[in-house]
Amino acid sequence: MGYKVAVVGATGNVGREMLAILAERKFPADEVVALASRKSVGTEASFGDKILKVKALEYYDFSDVDICLMSAGGAVSKEWSPKIAAAGAVVIDNSSAWRMDPDVPLIVPEVNAAAIDGFAKKNIIANPNCSTAQLVVALKPLHDKATIKRVVVATYQSVSGAGKDAMDELFSQTKAVFTLGEIATKKFPRRIAFNVIPHIDDFMEDGYTKEEWKMVVETKKILDPKIKLTATCVRVPVFVGHSEAVNIEFEKPISVEEAREILRSAPGCIVIDKHEPGGYVTPYESVGEDATYISRIRTDPTIDNGLQMWIVSDNLRKGAALNAVQIAETLINRKLIQAKKKAA
Ligand SMILES: NC(=O)c1ccc[n+]([C@@H]2O[C@H](COP(=O)([O-])OP(=O)(O)OC[C@H]3O[C@@H](n4cnc5c(N)ncnc54)[C@H](OP(=O)(O)O)[C@@H]3O)[C@@H](O)[C@H]2O)c1
Repeated sequence: MGYKVAVVGATGNVGREMLAILAERKFPADEVVALASRKSVGTEASFGDKILKVKALEYYDFSDVDICLMSAGGAVSKEWSPKIAAAGAVVIDNSSAWRMDPDVPLIVPEVNAAAIDGFAKKNIIANPNCSTAQLVVALKPLHDKATIKRVVVATYQSVSGAGKDAMDELFSQTKAVFTLGEIATKKFPRRIAFNVIPHIDDFMEDGYTKEEWKMVVETKKILDPKIKLTATCVRVPVFVGHSEAVNIEFEKPISVEEAREILRSAPGCIVIDKHEPGGYVTPYESVGEDATYISRIRTDPTIDNGLQMWIVSDNLRKGAALNAVQIAETLINRKLIQAKKKAA
């Protein structure tokens, strides 16, 4: 007997990708339901070669749902995840609502799959922020080898990380530049077309943004609380694919060759690192791919045991939908969930 899976936010960037990935990976589901807000009722969502009619979250009965992949933002998750979890479905949430709750595991399966075992306290499992997910996939094998002390990261994040309206804004602003039309800004605080914005999510008292803070605390929770991390998160006019320039200081020596070899055999990582034009991965090539790509690995001669690298991944996949589906697969592989008996 297969599972019944509900995708909440099925009309959004992440939800659509979740449906595609469930189909692609032949997830053992007998039934998949697509849910969104009331305004989307009756619209259609693709699931492999099937078309699902979108239903409203607020009227949906979750009593026979086994797994709920949630991707409808923090406010919706805060209200609905506990109710869905109480109905007996395991919620795998993509928002930041539950990530730092001590009773909610924050999981990247390549990094800390075993931490999932405590999920039953709330029946909720959190997915990290997109920029954290790809970062920890690359940091974990290096940390195991040489113990990371400190990480300095600058991100170059695509507009799809801010949802479908943000993608529309980049598109319409770009069109307006070429047609001499009006450049309207709604989703972003400044024009994003042909520009970069050093600001993602709200500002905090210390001058950092919440996006930067999330990278710090989530890396500690997933990988190691002793790792010090500082980040500058920047929005760039790219539709899909987040990039990161990462400087890592280790406790023990580690050479570029060792790092390259370790990353070559690490789960979820692909190294493309030729010292020639185009011998690296850009966000454009990462679109639709599952891997976290690592390029430009080199020594930082200004510190002891320092490496510098470039990390790229599809933020809608490893940064969100793929990671969520991998969490569901981890639940099944670790025999932590059984399909509920369904009415005949
Ligand atoms: N994009 C990324 O790279 C990324 C990465 C990690 C995490 N996340 C997180 O994933 C979540 C979704 O992001 P996204 O990029 O997919 O956003 P999006 O494209 O704006 O889609 C939002 C989805 O949420 C649904 N929704 C909104 N309000 C709802 C309500 N009251 N009840 C039911 N459904 C509702 C929308 O349905 P309607 O179409 O009916 O409004 C839509 O399906 C966010 O929490 C985001 O922070 C995103």
